[in-house]
Amino acid sequence: MAMKRISLSLAAAGLLGATLAHAGEVEVLHWWTSGGEAKAAAELKATMQKKGHSWKDFAVAGGGGDAAMTVLKSRVVSGNAPAAAQIKGPSIQEWAREGVLANMDSVAKAEKWDELLPKVVADGLKYKGNYVAAPVNVHRVNWLWANPAVFQKAGAKLPTTWDEFFVAAEALKKAGVIPVAHGGQNWQDFTTFESVALGVGGADFYKKAMVQLDPATLKSPTMQTVLETFKKVKGYTDKNAPGRDWNLATAMVIKGEAGMQLMGDWAKGEFIAAGKVPGKDFACVAAPGTAKSFTYNVDSFALFQLKDPANQKAQQDLAAAIMSPEFQEVFNLNKGSIPVRLGMKLDKFDDCAKTSAADFVASNKAGSLVPSIAHGMAVPSAAEGAMKDVVSQFWNDDKMTAAAAMDKLVAAAKNK
Ligand code: BGC
Repeated sequence: MAMKRISLSLAAAGLLGATLAHAGEVEVLHWWTSGGEAKAAAELKATMQKKGHSWKDFAVAGGGGDAAMTVLKSRVVSGNAPAAAQIKGPSIQEWAREGVLANMDSVAKAEKWDELLPKVVADGLKYKGNYVAAPVNVHRVNWLWANPAVFQKAGAKLPTTWDEFFVAAEALKKAGVIPVAHGGQNWQDFTTFESVALGVGGADFYKKAMVQLDPATLKSPTMQTVLETFKKVKGYTDKNAPGRDWNLATAMVIKGEAGMQLMGDWAKGEFIAAGKVPGKDFACVAAPGTAKSFTYNVDSFALFQLKDPANQKAQQDLAAAIMSPEFQEVFNLNKGSIPVRLGMKLDKFDDCAKTSAADFVASNKAGSLVPSIAHGMAVPSAAEGAMKDVVSQFWNDDKMTAAAAMDKLVAAAKNK
């Protein structure tokens, strides 16, 4: 009996040894720490563990990822890069130019990424024609989240234009609730700002100002109106907004303390994680004036060069898993976003996601699909950071004029 047990456990150890020989570790840097985000991240961890790899979590809290990027820089500089890091947009190119990213073409070819990704997305993941990052989703940034019960109590109507937005905000204020849940952090200020720019100025204005950084558009009568409209929103936020995390702002809408929030659809992940039902407990509508446009924010993982062959294999498995239909579904159901992989069935997704998917396609055709500058998709990181500082300064300093802000924006946009 004892003999049998020993030989059984030896056999088990042998089997285990066989799996371990291929098993590696993936260390993954991300900033998904809120309720909905953590649930989505847990799906990625579970996927990797099912493949026999071990997961080393490298979570750096801080919405929008500024803190995570600072930590990443110091890790890479000290020669200790993680296997994968949540990096997106033009920053992927900036990291690739440093020569620290791994070529993922073997995975991308085997898994047919070129056929499965929208071209605008695929191009951003390649450096000199080779894939160096894997995408997980498409977030839409230009959303307004609302608590329908609070709107009803206030006799307010969900706004479709900025004029209607301020009418609703007034009604909510009179009913004694905080009209707009906001967190005063520069990426949240800019998330609001870019939705106002898109709604007030339209997609062509947005592209000229926020993507091409055209000085004459950054300093124009339309930009003046955008800045004034943006500043007017502040009047409907509460005095505790400065520094508040975005998910705490979402919680105010969930609890009915506030009426609405301008935020990307990771906010939906919070409503869902709190057990709320879309269309009943909360509403999603395009940010005022932006129903026909789509500000996209694609989360992706850049893959860093690794030395250990087992870890390289784990990294390749991670890249392949990220693009698999099973993962794209379960991850995005939790995250609030839509799959980035084309041709996916959306049966399990709610109406907010279905609207997002339809609008993504329609806006791409109409030329009104635009990258989010607040979320690192549109311009080099230096210009983005400098412009965020100006917009937050304008938001916070009641003495700063729109004219002064425009001059500073033009100067900030020159940072390369
Ligand atoms: C990321 C999202 C994240 C959000 C809040 C965005 O920049 O793309 O994945 O949920 O920041 O942290």
